[in-house]
Amino acid sequence: MSQSNNKLTTSWGAPVGDNQNSMTAGSRGPTLLQDVHLLEKLAHFNRERVPERVVHAKGAGAHGYFEVTQDLSQYTKAAFLAEVGKRTPMFIRFSTVAGELGSSDTVRDPRGFAVKFYTEEGNYDLVGNNTPVFFIRDAIKFPDFIHTQKRHPQTHLKNPNAVWDFWSLSPESLHQVTILMSDRGIPATLRHMHGFGSHTFKWVNAEGKAVWVKYHFKTEQGVRNLDVNLAAQIAGENPDYHTEDLFNAIDKGDFPAWRLHVQIMPVEDADTYRFDPFDVTKVWSQKDYPLIEVGRMVLDRNPENYFAEVEQATFSPGSFVPGIEASPDKMLQGRLFAYADAHRYRVGANHNQLPINRPIAEVNNNQRDGAMNSGSNGGSSVYYEPNSFGGATESPQHKSAPYNVSGQADSVPYDHDDHYTQAGDLYRLLSEEERARLIRNIVGAMTPVEFDEIKIRQIGHFYKADAEFGQRIAEGLGLPVPQAE
Ligand code: HEM
Repeated sequence: MSQSNNKLTTSWGAPVGDNQNSMTAGSRGPTLLQDVHLLEKLAHFNRERVPERVVHAKGAGAHGYFEVTQDLSQYTKAAFLAEVGKRTPMFIRFSTVAGELGSSDTVRDPRGFAVKFYTEEGNYDLVGNNTPVFFIRDAIKFPDFIHTQKRHPQTHLKNPNAVWDFWSLSPESLHQVTILMSDRGIPATLRHMHGFGSHTFKWVNAEGKAVWVKYHFKTEQGVRNLDVNLAAQIAGENPDYHTEDLFNAIDKGDFPAWRLHVQIMPVEDADTYRFDPFDVTKVWSQKDYPLIEVGRMVLDRNPENYFAEVEQATFSPGSFVPGIEASPDKMLQGRLFAYADAHRYRVGANHNQLPINRPIAEVNNNQRDGAMNSGSNGGSSVYYEPNSFGGATESPQHKSAPYNVSGQADSVPYDHDDHYTQAGDLYRLLSEEERARLIRNIVGAMTPVEFDEIKIRQIGHFYKADAEFGQRIAEGLGLPVPQAE
């Protein structure tokens, strides 16, 4: 509670005389325009909404801390990872992807896993999901892909034809589709799922030596998923089930925690690895690159105000700190633009000044003015560079690590097109019960598709991943079993 007394005021701080009866000419009205408290109340109410996120609109957030458990400074100079026992405050927002702000928590969808570390060198945002891979691997396909997950422009209904048409014509989606349709597609709670950075990132140490890195947050609560029928029932009875569970767990002191691990790939391996290590539809084998523990994340404080802290939180995959950089991943590269652009539109040009987004590190840039500038706006300090007056200067030691690129500027597909091995490996790893549920979920999801051509094309992909996988789906849909090629 921020109120220091109980006096109701206007937004300009003046005491309100009457908050129940508008000012009228005579007891029966009409209402007088001069009742500025009424005018302000109605006008502000009209402006209570900001645009919801175009994806990941429904979410829940929590504060916590990250504590380093293993010194990996031989790989990164990031100060917040520098020594064992070091703690950094952080904020996390979990979300579903396709649904609107009021949609149900217990739907089949990837879950967003967006972490903001408030480090002494600036905010580091790791904006991942609860899956290690993604449906597509080039940012240019993202708006089309998301259109298929959203509502039909005429009926305003979800559209299984579009969903499976796009996936069947974008076979790189097969791995993520298999994960999504498995038990993990509906987590029991937000506490019972892993998190992943998904993309490959670059770590750079104090000597300027780089490695490629992937992030894995392992839940200490264990992985638990929801039975589909129960999930459907809960979606109707309590659409905010996951939001409520997270809030209540933290409220009663049952703080959820995750262990952060990384996989590290020497830079030179990227040229010779058996697939493109920047392709976000693939996982790196843990036999080749084992998990190395880095630290522990604990969520121990609920937001005080949902809108201020969760709705206005802005996470960007481009918010890096020294020692952590982008990889050439074509999805990540597009995301480096998309998020900060969304924030300027959704929250405003000065979104980083809001308390939830404000770095604990001192901000010294030459940006000035703009809507809702709520800080000191640089005061009377120097506001341009270069200058002769002792203004803030750049730090050459924090330039990005240089690396070689070559080739012709062109729009080209990925050079490795194996969409099937990893999806098939996943299928073969599952127990018979898990396979049966996977098949049931896929058959259930594909049944409403009105065009056999789309279903048959998609069955072909499942078949190429694993013949049994494809056959069982074909049988479930009552369609011809593909013939081996
Ligand atoms: C949210 C774009 C791929 C995870 C968003 C938002 C946009 C966006 C515009 C809303 C941001 C906001 O309003 O604050 C894109 C584009 C992508 C892409 C263009 C591909 C080129 C991905 C991938 C992941 C991901 C691959 C995970 C690995 C998230 C998460 C959020 C989000 C977790 C919610 C962040 C929050 O809680 O505020 N995305 N996205 N996105 N995206 Fe993506």
